[in-house]
Amino acid sequence: MKRTILLHPDPRLKKPSVPVEDLSDARRALADDMLETMYAAPGIGLAAPQIGVLERLIVLDCVKGENERARPLVMFNPEIVAASEETSVYEEGCLSIPEQFADVTRPAEVQVRWIDPQGAEQQEGFDGLWATCVQHEIDHLDGKLFIDYLKPLRRQMITRKMVKMKRELARE
Ligand code: NI
Repeated sequence: MKRTILLHPDPRLKKPSVPVEDLSDARRALADDMLETMYAAPGIGLAAPQIGVLERLIVLDCVKGENERARPLVMFNPEIVAASEETSVYEEGCLSIPEQFADVTRPAEVQVRWIDPQGAEQQEGFDGLWATCVQHEIDHLDGKLFIDYLKPLRRQMITRKMVKMKRELARE
């Protein structure tokens, strides 16, 4: 089932999420809903707080190109266990902040540990767009948005545009 994505500004997007203590069928169904919502948007990553669930769960699939096989990843309690000193810059966007994009500098490579839907611990290194995406989604679990990396003026400008957009959407 497709879920509604919360739009910034929303207090739920600023709160830290709690660790997932047990993997129930309901949580696996929630992850499936998040993947469906992400692909439909379309987007390459989604964090549970973006659909109003304050639990440490993210989904992502950064495979681009129609001829490449999709690689949906579901991560419960994802943690960055190592990050490279080398950085990379990507123009980031966010499904909770539509139509707004900005360059963000982050570590170019990260090692991530997480629990998969079967309850097994996984660890993998990511680089390129995957590294940026997984860091962006884990930030959501700590109540942090990509605009928090921008200078205050730029951030306020984007927030003002979003307030206006939400007002217009509410009127429709
Ligand atoms: Ni986002």
